[in-house]
Amino acid sequence: MRTLIKNIKELAQVETGQLKLRVQGKEMAQMKTVKNAYLIVENGVIKEFGEMTNLKEQTFDRKVDATGRMVFPSFCDSHTHLVYANSREHEFVDKIRGLSYEEIAKRGGGILNSAKATAAASEDQLYDMALQRLNEVMRLGTGAIEIKSGYGLTTESELKLLRVIRRLKESSPLTIKSNFLGAHGIPMEYRGHQEDYVDLVINEMIPRVADEGLADFIDVFCDQGFFTVEDTARILEAGIKYGMKPKIHANEMAVSGGVQVGVKYGAISVDHLEQMGDAEIECLKGTETMPTILPGCAFFLNLPLSPARKMIDAGLPVAMASDYNPGTAPSNNMQLILSMACIRYRLTPEEAFNATTLNTAYAMGVSDQLGTIAVGKKANFYITKPISSYEYMPYSFGENKVERVFLNGVEV
Ligand code: NIG
Ligand code: FE
Repeated sequence: MRTLIKNIKELAQVETGQLKLRVQGKEMAQMKTVKNAYLIVENGVIKEFGEMTNLKEQTFDRKVDATGRMVFPSFCDSHTHLVYANSREHEFVDKIRGLSYEEIAKRGGGILNSAKATAAASEDQLYDMALQRLNEVMRLGTGAIEIKSGYGLTTESELKLLRVIRRLKESSPLTIKSNFLGAHGIPMEYRGHQEDYVDLVINEMIPRVADEGLADFIDVFCDQGFFTVEDTARILEAGIKYGMKPKIHANEMAVSGGVQVGVKYGAISVDHLEQMGDAEIECLKGTETMPTILPGCAFFLNLPLSPARKMIDAGLPVAMASDYNPGTAPSNNMQLILSMACIRYRLTPEEAFNATTLNTAYAMGVSDQLGTIAVGKKANFYITKPISSYEYMPYSFGENKVERVFLNGVEV
């Protein structure tokens, strides 16, 4: 199957030569494009691109005219909790009335509220709801997504969530990675002796998850009021032994040592980072760990903003993902994250595109196949509506600018 996309007003984020697995510091401001371009896709992979004037006469199975439109590599959303049973707008109202996220969690709401609903839902019900959400995400331009468990908090419920993610992997054209987040909340019956819950995660859940091959990554909510640095170290060590790569929640509520423990265990990313000191920035330098900011969560909870500008100026890479979940970021929209990157965190549009594509692809271990337009990469991209420039993408916040979506070279 050979497809030609022709007359592209501007083909964005093209890469030639030695491909980068991520960009950091000043490199984040670089974004190459080709104006008046064509793109050829063959058997699901990007085969060739260039200026229209250089397109050679040849045959195609399909031709798409993109006059007036731009083409971008699909967003990669490296942090989501997309499989869940219920929305939580009542807590949203409680927060408006003055309760904090931590206060709601303490009285058994929050993650435990989601866990109750998850226990009551069947695997099929969870799958149907998640598939519908995934299809909506796809229409908004996301082509790869990481999905966490973590609303189970019992062995059976965690396995149920991870089996749903496995079914999504098998049935969806999106590239999907799964993350086991058994250590997301502390169940009521373990309050006061949470080390026993950590033991359950380590001795029962991790071996069962590994036995069924259900998780690519291991996650912990390492923060004040949740899991300690010591809990986190024990869980990550156990996960690593079973072949899961660490990728954790850190420094959302407090400067908690989360970044340091993540880096120590070679986490592929440390996520949230609303609470960052100089020591945290220093500790990330020269490491393989991708600092990942979740603008939707900070927006929804009115949290302080992660110092993205300071991190990039210090030479670090930065990724930005949606954190799509019912408690702290009920938005599936990476176009909105792109806008927030510029508006709230002062990234330039070029930096914002890199933060939501290549660097998030890195944060989910797929940047060798996704995140830019490069020959040999998976043909996951979208065609915009007619727009004036690539800066229009973050500028026009809240509007859906994606018109057509191609995943693995096929229009979906
Ligand atoms: O990434 N911070 C921890 N976990 C999720 C929220 C979970 C919830 O409240 O349902 C997050 O924000
Ligand atoms: Fe999260």
